[in-house]
Amino acid sequence: RSYEYIEVSEPRPGVGQVTLNRPKALNALCSPLIAELNTALRSFQASPTVAAVVLTGSERAFAAGADIKEMAPLTFSEAYTNSFIESWSELTTALKKPLVAAVSGHALGGGCELALMADVLYCTASANFGQPEIRLGTIPGAGGSQRLTRAVGKSKAMELILTGKSFSGEEAERWGVAARVFPSYEALMEGALGTAETIAGYSKVAVQAAKEVVNKSQDLPLRDGVEYERRLFHALFGSQDQKIGMKAFAEKKKAEWSHQ
Ligand code: HXC
Repeated sequence: RSYEYIEVSEPRPGVGQVTLNRPKALNALCSPLIAELNTALRSFQASPTVAAVVLTGSERAFAAGADIKEMAPLTFSEAYTNSFIESWSELTTALKKPLVAAVSGHALGGGCELALMADVLYCTASANFGQPEIRLGTIPGAGGSQRLTRAVGKSKAMELILTGKSFSGEEAERWGVAARVFPSYEALMEGALGTAETIAGYSKVAVQAAKEVVNKSQDLPLRDGVEYERRLFHALFGSQDQKIGMKAFAEKKKAEWSHQ
């Protein structure tokens, strides 16, 4: 199917890509764009040929935020009764396959929050992150106050969210927001697609379990998280791929995954 605000492709074996494509508004995240993004991720989740997904924007902008023009006239009761922004959370539940965000240019407000929802965040050194909502008389609304705080700690998150000041890709990497920083957009895309391809080469069962347990660390107290991990680790002894992987190691062969 074709989309108005995004492009989808399968650029590498096992890798799906979503490119935000609303250049006139620097990929401002209007509601129809988020609906398309959810649809695309759901279809990658269902696809037998896609095992990992890369989400990117343009070189100039990953996304400059939620659509300010759409939000400006909203009333409290409209936002509340329509659960405005709640559908963004589907991004984190619809896709059980790993999502790598490749961020170049502006990633502001909702754009920064969208990037923080990814499983792995890569960016260019000159990327421009920030939560500027305070300048608009509001606050982050898609998890920024929670995810940014978990990533950089309370004091730095407070400073960023209370001043609205942006931070660079270089800083994002240094503070642990980004896993890796790249000197150019081309290098960024190469890195993101390469990592997605690496992940796509492993057992789908193990990859889904790995993503699930790491995400639990964000929600559960340590003792419960460790127990959750151990339960799933035990469960994987019931998979064929655990036998295939360990047998291949012993025989010094490359594992041929059954994905069972
Ligand atoms: C709607 C936007 C937009 C946005 C940019 N545009 N950001 N439209 N919503 N968030 C539009 C501009 O209006 C302009 O349209 C076009 O994109 C190009 O932008 P310019 O400002 O002309 O570009 P430039 O001078 O290069 O400045 C880039 C910029 C600036 C620094 C990123 O656009 C900017 O400050 N944007 C807003 C960033 C922001 O505050 N984001 C947080 C939003 S609040 P025209 O028609 O004039 O050409 C938010 C809340 C999240 O995200 C909570 C829930 C998710």
